[in-house]
Amino acid sequence: MKKLLCILALAAGISTAQAQIDAFTPKAVWNDTEGRPINAHGGGILKHKGTYYWYGEYKTGKTILPSWASWECYRTDVTGVSCYSSKDLYNWKFEGVVLKAVLDDPSHDLHPTKVIERPKVVYNKKTKKFVMWIHAESPDYSKACAGVAVSDSPTGPFEYIESFRPNDSMSRDQTLYVDDDGTCYQFTSSENNQTLHINRLTPDYLRPDGTFVRRFVGMAREAPAVFKYKNKYYMLSSGCTGWDPNEAQLAVADSIMGEWTVLGNPCTGPDADITFHGQSTYVIPVNPKKGQFIACFDMWNKRNLSDSRYIWLPLNIDKETDKITIPWHETWKY
Ligand code: GAL
Repeated sequence: MKKLLCILALAAGISTAQAQIDAFTPKAVWNDTEGRPINAHGGGILKHKGTYYWYGEYKTGKTILPSWASWECYRTDVTGVSCYSSKDLYNWKFEGVVLKAVLDDPSHDLHPTKVIERPKVVYNKKTKKFVMWIHAESPDYSKACAGVAVSDSPTGPFEYIESFRPNDSMSRDQTLYVDDDGTCYQFTSSENNQTLHINRLTPDYLRPDGTFVRRFVGMAREAPAVFKYKNKYYMLSSGCTGWDPNEAQLAVADSIMGEWTVLGNPCTGPDADITFHGQSTYVIPVNPKKGQFIACFDMWNKRNLSDSRYIWLPLNIDKETDKITIPWHETWKY
């Protein structure tokens, strides 16, 4: 029947591409403009010249649990980092794998046998480069490094430069945040995921500049996502339970390297205590002045990672108290 409809559509000159999407439906399969499921996990969003770019882990093929595994270090072979573009945040066009796996060098961070996670891309206005940071890992998660790549264009290709431990410290789940003055910071789960490091970067965003602070000491925060509202910095994060969901936490600070105050779990509604089965990855400042932000979560399917889904929900900011909540919605529009 489907084949017949396609033939009829083709005969009538109608495109068989995905119909326009005009609402967010968390947890549902979310197709790109070609009708294929969006494949961009642990991702981040960059807005550049009126277009949004979504970068994420491109997870294809079998999910593997190595025979030596003593914990649930499920992984897929590294294929690279994907990029999608959109004008409206609903409809995403696949721009390709912009940081590609390196097939011929088994020691390379991007070799299929390795692990790469949580890519984040920022634009450096001074160097006019797009800079990507990733979590570069070994299959047993002992490497704990950050990897850096650059491109002249938001849609790549990104050239991989190197990986290292920022300020000689472990770096796993991570995000980048560019402040209004153009300074970029890496927020990363360090010290065996127990303590978060906030690393200030060099003006070219390619390395830490040596100044960093230890925050959330011993609190095991992962999956950090940072945003700014009314001159305050907020960090949404998860706890540390591998691919399994746990309770989210929001924290606030007056300055990035200053003291952070934990506000608690912002999620409300069914399964709010396990982040609706999701884990934070990014907060999109859609219109920060108007208090419009979208919180982006991954819903991991650990035994079939490529079928992991997305949960995008609006931040709700109380007009009088500025209290931030993330209420559950089956489906919603902004
Ligand atoms: C999570 C982390 C994911 C991935 C996973 C591996 O805690 O947020 O990005 O590293 O562990 O188990």
